[in-house]
Amino acid sequence: MAEALDYTDRPWLDPEAEPFIKVQSVSKHFGDFTAVDSVDLDIYKGELFCLLGGSGCGKSTLLRMLAGFETPSSGTILIDGQNMNDVPPYERPVNMMFQSYALFPHMTVWNNVAYGLRRDKVPKSEIQQRVDEMISMVELDQFAKRKPHQLSGGQKQRVALARALVKQPKVLLLDEPLGALDKRLREQTQYELMNIQEQLGVTFIVVTHDQEEAMTLSTRIAVMDTGRFQQIGTPTEIYEFPNSRVVANFIGNANMFEGRIIENGPDHVIVESNDPKCEFFVDHGMSIQEGTKVWVALRPEKVRISKESPANSSANTIRGMVHDIGYLGGTSTYRVQVDGDHMIEITSPNMMRPRDASPPIDWDEEVYLSWDASSSVVLTK
Ligand SMILES: Nc1ncnc2c1ncn2[C@@H]1O[C@H](COP(=O)(O)OP(=O)(O)OP(=O)(O)O)[C@@H](O)[C@H]1O
Ligand SMILES: [Mg+2]
Repeated sequence: MAEALDYTDRPWLDPEAEPFIKVQSVSKHFGDFTAVDSVDLDIYKGELFCLLGGSGCGKSTLLRMLAGFETPSSGTILIDGQNMNDVPPYERPVNMMFQSYALFPHMTVWNNVAYGLRRDKVPKSEIQQRVDEMISMVELDQFAKRKPHQLSGGQKQRVALARALVKQPKVLLLDEPLGALDKRLREQTQYELMNIQEQLGVTFIVVTHDQEEAMTLSTRIAVMDTGRFQQIGTPTEIYEFPNSRVVANFIGNANMFEGRIIENGPDHVIVESNDPKCEFFVDHGMSIQEGTKVWVALRPEKVRISKESPANSSANTIRGMVHDIGYLGGTSTYRVQVDGDHMIEITSPNMMRPRDASPPIDWDEEVYLSWDASSSVVLTK
């Protein structure tokens, strides 16, 4: 008998799970400009879902439609089974945290957090308890009496987060929540966000244009480009199996080769690239005609670099000359010139070596680059 599958952490794979948020063919036009172009999206309870994409691709517009600050030109948004089209922002089970934080400058931290509960006429004793708890949770106890101008960017960010969370929304929409923070604080706050999300079980939808942030935070990512979703998937799926050049280039670095399918077997395909000249043997079949133009994406960390020729294979190997070496501590980045002036980027971990040992591969050295048959990704668009 088949074992029951556990979908707890991956509700989107569960055929029986009902999405908490359903976006159906939603578009937004501003005059004759289309900011969001007929998108479909299902988000499940407890997800930390990232909308990722370059500036102007429509992320904030989509978030604002979920919050109710913009009306879709067409399509439907359902939250918890209820059609939101005619529901005003304050009656939706969502709360939005704006990038600018929009804190009240004349109020203390405590009063900023309490504001929404007071407006909702929550009993005083309950306000006291909920605000105190929330302020502890974001570790702002010692700042409760300060005003926003007496706080750092990261502290303000946490006040805004506390203010949004204290109302116990079922969905929290965050537009570039960490945009104003420096790298260290950003990373720390990312983990705080994930902890809070786990503790409270709120569904988060986070807008960001920072791919590392999206990779760290998310259960799933939607990669957006000019108003459409290019791909929706887990961070691993999007990184390992991008479905297009746009996604492969947007998430991480990729060496990109243009070529043609010259052989298509049941369990492999061979792609020939002419410029630079090399062959890719890929260890899975594809439903694609021989002769079709494709692109091959190869991640820098999946390429091996060596001074000796790898054993007996002409495919998945290319010769070149080391043009640049960047020492980054834990890893080194090599830029290797192949077949004319094409550059291939390789990153490789720096293993433990005696500290004063000379680097094993040097500038201007002739090297072989090679990769596994499972390492390259064939893209058709
Ligand atoms: N009220 C508006 N009127 C006209 N055009 C608008 C309006 N709001 C947004 N746009 C346009 O819609 C497009 C998408 O805007 P949006 O704010 O959603 O982008 P974004 O993905 O959030 O970008 P960023 O990362 O820069 O914040 C942009 O080209 C923008 O100029
Ligand atoms: Mg935006």
